[in-house]
Amino acid sequence: MLLVTGAAGYIGSHFVRHYLAENAGAAVVAVDNLSLGHRQALPAEDKVNFYQTELADREGLIEIMVKHKVSAVVHFAARAYVGESQQRPFFYLDNNVGGTTSLLAAMNAAGVEKLVFSSTCSSYGNPVYSPIDEKHPQNPINTYGTSKLMVEQMLAALALCTPLRYVVLRYFNAAGADDSGQIGESHDPETHLLPLAIQAALGKIPQLKVFGDDYDTPDGTCVRDYIHVNDLASAHLRALALLDKEKVSTAVNLGTAKGASVKEIINMVELVSGAKVPHEFVERRPGDPSYLVSDNSKAKEVLGWIPQYDLKRTVETAVNWERNRLY
Ligand SMILES: NC(=O)c1ccc[n+]([C@@H]2O[C@H](COP(=O)([O-])OP(=O)(O)OC[C@H]3O[C@@H](n4cnc5c(N)ncnc54)[C@H](O)[C@@H]3O)[C@@H](O)[C@H]2O)c1
Repeated sequence: MLLVTGAAGYIGSHFVRHYLAENAGAAVVAVDNLSLGHRQALPAEDKVNFYQTELADREGLIEIMVKHKVSAVVHFAARAYVGESQQRPFFYLDNNVGGTTSLLAAMNAAGVEKLVFSSTCSSYGNPVYSPIDEKHPQNPINTYGTSKLMVEQMLAALALCTPLRYVVLRYFNAAGADDSGQIGESHDPETHLLPLAIQAALGKIPQLKVFGDDYDTPDGTCVRDYIHVNDLASAHLRALALLDKEKVSTAVNLGTAKGASVKEIINMVELVSGAKVPHEFVERRPGDPSYLVSDNSKAKEVLGWIPQYDLKRTVETAVNWERNRLY
């Protein structure tokens, strides 16, 4: 059986839905402390064995793994706010690094050897070249990125001295919602550009703040690589298949390899929603690189993965969710 941590979160819940849709008759073990996740984001049915558990509860995780004969783990659970990670660095290290140490020790004790881990383009820090491939130096500039890099290093060390095998997936900017409209992004506070732009268009917030319009980019606003959450989900299935097939450990970028600026996102939200996005330009935020776009050729080569959603469709699913959100 597959165990999914952070399963009630944004990306975790989309992965669980996708996994169950692609594997008829399968069930999962879902672990989340619900600090940020939503129980409603997971199906209530008997295909999900849900545990409200902390990653730090090592003995509890061992018990769950043994009871359900867990054979692989997909590990989404983490705190993922860059700003918060600078204000509460020890909490981030405890939660993301300490929590993962506990999970890995539990896997080792329960004889679970396969792991897919959610890492991030934030682990690269300021780009020294673009697009960013997996060989790009990793010099994170905040505690969040550092916590993810530390876990990557822990995995590399453990693969040398324990049976652990892993695929690290470094996501660029996750975006969009499931086409069903039943699950989507729901963070409190919300810090991501796309949901905030849509909330501004729909009158749910007064206006969008755009941090800086004097960057060295074609229109002066920051450029990011927006990857649909269901494309992320499908890459995780392929990573699990790779671990089943081969005794490998590797790290792979997940992005579209196409950049969109903040102004382009605003234009797309206006086109799709039919409403203006009220916005104001304010000072740059410290630590925001101007341009973060993936080279995704390794994902194509190693996982046979090609993203299916373009920016318009991604924004359409996000607008649909924001108009009718259930949580
Ligand atoms: N959203 C993005 O754009 C993005 C980009 C790169 C990487 N990631 C990574 O992807 C993963 C999922 O991100 P998300 O956007 O779905 O975040 P999310 O906050 O929606 O989901 C994370 C889930 O983990 C749970 N959780 C956190 N700490 C826990 C702990 N100690 N024990 C048990 N459960 C815990 C939370 O309750 C939440 O449900 C994270 O690891 C994040 O760092 C996200």
